[in-house]
Amino acid sequence: MERNLAVAVPRFVRVTAAVLLFASPVIAMQVRARDPEWVAPAKEAAKANPLAGRTDAAAGGGKLFRQRCSKCHGADGHGTRKGPNLAHADVQAQSDGTLFWKISSGNSHEDMPSFSFLPEPQRWQLVLHVREIGNGSLREP
Ligand code: HEC
Repeated sequence: MERNLAVAVPRFVRVTAAVLLFASPVIAMQVRARDPEWVAPAKEAAKANPLAGRTDAAAGGGKLFRQRCSKCHGADGHGTRKGPNLAHADVQAQSDGTLFWKISSGNSHEDMPSFSFLPEPQRWQLVLHVREIGNGSLREP
């Protein structure tokens, strides 16, 4: 009995190690899911981006994104374990005003910080950059 146990334990350890070894890349690659329940108030959602069409301003948004957002959403904005994919159709289907409001207010229960401390034009620049993430016109970092 004791002898069997001595054999069984190392085997258990070996099996566990093998499972972890094969599962870890899968776990590491998982991208955090977005919260479909998080919606902006209608008045905020209706706001238009004052920088719409300003590709020059989008470049500044890219720089801000790398400084403040990429650690969670990834350098390409396609998400990490800490933040959802911003190229997702459900994200891109939302209005500029909604994205601006979400970036401004954050969702503290869900680990998205508030960026209301950034000047409004910078937050609109970030919205331009989120659109670039969605439409594939992303500049190289
Ligand atoms: C500490 C990690 C973290 C950082 C830094 C962060 N985010 Fe997020 N972000 C999240 C998480 C987590 C969510 C999902 C929250 C939810 O769905 O309730 C989220 C959600 C969002 C959404 C809403 C997506 C949707 O599904 O509607 C937008 C837009 C967004 N982030 C943009 C940004 C921008 C722009 C920055 C930088 C200024 C940024 N985030 C920085 C973690 C982060």
